[in-house]
Amino acid sequence: MSDYLLELHDIEAGYGRAALVLRGLTVKVPAGSVVCLVGPNGAGKSTVLKVASGLLAPRSGSIVVDGEDVTGRGPQQMLASGLAHVLQGHSVFREMTVEENVMLGAFTVRDKATVAERVAFVRSLFPIVGERWKQLAGLLSGGQQKQVEFARSLMVSPKVVLLDEPSMGLDPKTTATVFDQVARMRDAGIAVLLVEQNARRALETADVGCVLDLGRVHISGPAPELLADPQLSALYLGGRPSDPAPAASVPTTNPSRNR
Ligand SMILES: Nc1ncnc2c1ncn2[C@@H]1O[C@H](COP(=O)(O)OP(=O)(O)OP(=O)(O)O)[C@@H](O)[C@H]1O
Ligand SMILES: [Mg+2]
Repeated sequence: MSDYLLELHDIEAGYGRAALVLRGLTVKVPAGSVVCLVGPNGAGKSTVLKVASGLLAPRSGSIVVDGEDVTGRGPQQMLASGLAHVLQGHSVFREMTVEENVMLGAFTVRDKATVAERVAFVRSLFPIVGERWKQLAGLLSGGQQKQVEFARSLMVSPKVVLLDEPSMGLDPKTTATVFDQVARMRDAGIAVLLVEQNARRALETADVGCVLDLGRVHISGPAPELLADPQLSALYLGGRPSDPAPAASVPTTNPSRNR
């Protein structure tokens, strides 16, 4: 097994003839960790996850999963390689039960005993999913539906889960629950590449933080170091009332800066 479960190397990617969105982006997700990618709206965070899950082919660069080069594979093959993508926004089927939603994640799994094992696993990891198993998913709250999406993504037993803005539209208490669930996934041995607007809260959960700017990872380092950097905090994390005003230029101390 490789030290990294997912490596995106020097990725260039964009949409149609428009300018490139990602311009030499490198991100690595070690086993047993949550890596959080933060950045402003439109920075390309969702694009990174689309490249990783095969929804968008990179123009150049390489994608490696657990030591195997999977560059050029499509979404189904990426899923089979061990990458599960939980999309930005809500993706449960409201008119289907929680069980039916979760079982959609197992459509490629043939062995019934394996399916039963995974159902037991996701129900233990996300108790609300088990409690509401037979109910229509549309009757669940936004935070509960998000946990159904998590559970569905884990039915393929992925190596890495790609989570796009899991806290979007949730109140602070529900957001806290969702981040707790992200930590539980990591503790259960599933690596996570997390994209979040709620950068401060996400970095409190993550092991490694990466700041995306101008199509590249501009700054990366242990999440606690990023959180403790006052200039970084003011520039990228919304600051705190007690923080000094942001400097005009990007800070150059502590975490590594990649230019
Ligand atoms: N399907 C698409 N077709 C064309 N351009 C797109 C498409 N999706 C995204 N873009 C463009 O790519 C850039 C990056 O978008 P992306 O969705 O990756 O940003 P993001 O960092 O996830 O933003 P947000 O925080 O708002 O979710 C934006 O300029 C956006 O307009
Ligand atoms: Mg996005």
